[in-house]
Amino acid sequence: MRVLGLETSCDETGIALYDTERGLLAHRIYSQIALHAEYGGVVPELASRDHVRKALPLIHETLNEAGLTVKDLDGIAYTSGPGLVGALLVGACLGRSLAWALGVPSVGVHHMEGHLLAPMLEDTAPDFPFIALLVSGGHTQLVRVDGIGRYELLGESLDDAAGEAFDKAAKMMGLPYPGGPALSKLADSGDATRFRFPRPMTDRPGLDFSFSGLKTQVRTTILDCAVEGVLADQDKADIAACFQAAVVDTLAIKCKRAMQQTGVKRLIIAGGVGANRRLREQLQQTAESLKGQVFYPRPQFCTDNGAMIAFAGACRLLAGSAADLAVAVVPRWPM
Ligand code: KG4
Ligand code: ZN
Repeated sequence: MRVLGLETSCDETGIALYDTERGLLAHRIYSQIALHAEYGGVVPELASRDHVRKALPLIHETLNEAGLTVKDLDGIAYTSGPGLVGALLVGACLGRSLAWALGVPSVGVHHMEGHLLAPMLEDTAPDFPFIALLVSGGHTQLVRVDGIGRYELLGESLDDAAGEAFDKAAKMMGLPYPGGPALSKLADSGDATRFRFPRPMTDRPGLDFSFSGLKTQVRTTILDCAVEGVLADQDKADIAACFQAAVVDTLAIKCKRAMQQTGVKRLIIAGGVGANRRLREQLQQTAESLKGQVFYPRPQFCTDNGAMIAFAGACRLLAGSAADLAVAVVPRWPM
């Protein structure tokens, strides 16, 4: 079965072709970062309009690369939530209409299910069950995965998501949007032991997270270090390193706890923050200390992409799910 996947929930237009026998055939990711950079964050209306401009040409490019035409498609999957409503509607309208015109089934995919299953696109895919750490701009969740559609939420952030905390801390330090990668790069030249940052909620049982306090810590440390409102480059790098170490330690402590509590030895990392090198290194050590294994999607499939939606959609379609003719999106949608 050949499935076209469309991802338009936020600021990336992701298109991919997944074949259930041959694997991923082709994919394209177009990032709108440059479009939103001058506003310091995603502008929803601009995002929707840019998806309208880019989606069809990218579908053509993807099909061409695979040497296929729309007539070769057996199904279409699109992200139907959560995300920005206008942006989601672009992919949903396009996917649903194309499926109707071609007479093939279509399916709306939960964006986080896409992230969760992304490591299964790699050659070294994990077997079930596994623990998934989902860390993106909108979510921080620990999920036990026993099979496709068999997900148990073990813990989640009670306030900011990890990526959101990275982005807000970066903004306070005057770093360009998107803040996560910029802050992480700056942290490479910083001293992660200079300031004492807390590891929130690690001193009590449970698998929930809270990152908003770390944001406050960044703000007060900036105020302490700044001279006449200006932060020296080394101070900036040290704050970035201490902040990153606090987030990464906290995530690693909770992952270890989740693996110990469930006895599940396989851990997967998904979502944009999963591209963070320090997080990957530390979780590798965590898994090794428990004689477990850690799996990641390739870095470009950590952030938003069409391949994860094509894959999750193919699994859903094979299991018999299909959308009716109504075009429906769900901007807020618990997994
Ligand atoms: O999964 P994603 O592309 O979009 C959402 O569904 O949110 O994740 C984007 C988030 C942003 O908050 C971004 O700053 C963060 O992932 N991010 C990173 C890194 N790369 C992306 N955070 C820390 N370190 C990185 N290297
Ligand atoms: Zn995402």
